[in-house]
Amino acid sequence: MNEQTPVTTAPAAKAPKLPNTETVTEVKHYTDRLFSFKCTRPASLRFRSGEFVMIGLMGDVNPKTGKQVPLLRAYSIASPSWDEEMEFYSIKVQDGPLTSKLQHIKVGDEIFMKPKPVGTLVHDALIPGKRMWFFATGTGFAPFASLLREPQTFEDYDEIIITHTCRQADELIYGRNIIESLKEDELLNEVIGEGFWKKIKYYPTTTREESAKMGRITDLINSGEAYKDLGVEPLCPQNDRAMICGNLAFNLELKAMLEAAGLEEGANSKPAQYVVEKAFLD
Ligand code: A2P
Repeated sequence: MNEQTPVTTAPAAKAPKLPNTETVTEVKHYTDRLFSFKCTRPASLRFRSGEFVMIGLMGDVNPKTGKQVPLLRAYSIASPSWDEEMEFYSIKVQDGPLTSKLQHIKVGDEIFMKPKPVGTLVHDALIPGKRMWFFATGTGFAPFASLLREPQTFEDYDEIIITHTCRQADELIYGRNIIESLKEDELLNEVIGEGFWKKIKYYPTTTREESAKMGRITDLINSGEAYKDLGVEPLCPQNDRAMICGNLAFNLELKAMLEAAGLEEGANSKPAQYVVEKAFLD
């Protein structure tokens, strides 16, 4: 008689899952300074497109205490509120406490996520308007990657202008891919309406490398060149709403320009004509 296989086999011991951890499902590298990744979404997490959450990894062992604590940073959610997965777009800073490690994550790794989304780049912080301007530099494109896939953006506005200023041309790849993907997105074309993406005017510019359009968006607007290229009327408080996300100097300069054009800053508690958020860097 053959030896019988035992009916019950003890499962291999599995490390217990820490609370607030999500599993990485996709990683894409664009340049030596930029990458994006996707992870699972906490079942209970609800957020508004354009918001951010705290994400991170376990830090190094503290030599004094011998303990490890999670290293967390604020990251804009690049995926829309309806998506089953979460997407993030990140810079890689070689000596950055978090991104020096985060840039090495692989599919199957776990990351920490505090499921408490917040942020000002949300439709609720703006009063109704006709035309939406999304102004981004660098990884500040992330919240707009979410809002460009949010049906409300296209329901609320007749026209959406997205400007993205980067130092180099290959830093525009992530944003361009997102915009291109809208044309092929069967779900969004079905839900929002066939050809919804035709409402988008995309204006990518570079400042330190030759590309089709060179210059800072601030200068291109001040000179009137951007309006001419886009074939649109100058900013006005009656029709225009705007969201800004980039480095600090850019945010401040653009904010002053919008104020000078007569637009007022809004907030969740007091919606108005434009909102600003800093792109969080390590
Ligand atoms: P520039 O190359 O002229 O500094 P960074 O990588 O430093 O965050 O910058 C991202 C992009 O934002 C760069 O193209 C940079 O242009 C541009 N930028 C930086 N500061 C401003 C500003 N005050 N107004 C407009 N664009 C800016």
